[in-house]
Amino acid sequence: MTKVRILIADEIDTSAVKNFSEKYSDKFPVKINFGISNQEIINTYNDFDVLIIRSIRKSDKSLLDNVSFKIIATCSKGTDHIDVDYAKKKGIKILNAEEANSVSAAEHTLGLILAIEKNLLLSDRLVRQNKFGFYDYERNELRGRSIGIIGFGKVGSYLGNICRALGMNVYANDIDKNVRSKNQGFIFKSLNYILKNSDIISIHIPMNKKNDNFISKENFDLLKKDSVFINTSRGSVIEEKYLLNLLKNRKIKFAGLDVFQNEPLINRDFAKLDNVILTNHIAGKTIQSRRKVAENIFEQLLEICK
Ligand SMILES: NC(=O)c1ccc[n+]([C@@H]2O[C@H](COP(=O)([O-])OP(=O)(O)OC[C@H]3O[C@@H](n4cnc5c(N)ncnc54)[C@H](O)[C@@H]3O)[C@@H](O)[C@H]2O)c1
Repeated sequence: MTKVRILIADEIDTSAVKNFSEKYSDKFPVKINFGISNQEIINTYNDFDVLIIRSIRKSDKSLLDNVSFKIIATCSKGTDHIDVDYAKKKGIKILNAEEANSVSAAEHTLGLILAIEKNLLLSDRLVRQNKFGFYDYERNELRGRSIGIIGFGKVGSYLGNICRALGMNVYANDIDKNVRSKNQGFIFKSLNYILKNSDIISIHIPMNKKNDNFISKENFDLLKKDSVFINTSRGSVIEEKYLLNLLKNRKIKFAGLDVFQNEPLINRDFAKLDNVILTNHIAGKTIQSRRKVAENIFEQLLEICK
């Protein structure tokens, strides 16, 4: 039996690894070396067959040129941390977890919306500062409010269903016509309509060449003054600097951001504002999704190496 040697270079759900190893270690010996540098991978594991990573690891030409992995599997939905085109040229197959973190990401998006509309961060500060009797700040119900969801795929449509259950008016937008026919109960609107008319705008599109800076200065200028803008997709799908200016100049009410253009060294100016809530790219990362993602990657590996 030919062995398929697997290196796990980033921390992933250990119980999924344990279950996999218990069943398949004869054919798939697993080496765990969480947090190892790319240079160490090149030096030590360059004859391994499979590399398992997370989205925190850049896999560019300098890595791909110096290893002999046949498969690189990333425990994430996005693959923008990997030079996929170059990997393809070199015959390296890329695996990612398509489904496993959509629920977590949609729930996190709702968490940001609720934190903003209920003003939870301020309320928490007031209680800590012994200002329990201070109520002079805005809090809103979600029922009856409108949310425009740009990108109605796995995360966007799940969020759409949650928002509908909360009694919100959901406007959907997607470039794929099949998405519209799959979601016939939803009202699809143009991008401009959504930007001009929604109380809350949430973006859920993938990062690719076409979507680079997709929500541009001109698009941002269409937002209502009291609108809330949420991004849990990828930092580069919006003109981040322009959003920063809008927030600074109070041209929109609030933003909720889980993703940034230059992670982890994000634009620190966001941290100076009190009308944005920031999370550290955790939308898709929960105990449950981590497990599902790792299990999904192992299932795909078994399928491919059958
Ligand atoms: N922050 C996190 O931890 C986290 C977790 C999961 C997913 N994500 C990100 O969220 C985004 C959505 O993920 P998904 O699983 O729903 O992807 P998906 O592929 O299921 O859905 C994306 C949808 O966007 C549509 N789309 C693409 N470009 C568009 C455009 N310009 N205008 C309108 N629609 C467009 C596509 O047709 C598709 O239906 C991705 O960027 C993904 O990387 C982030």
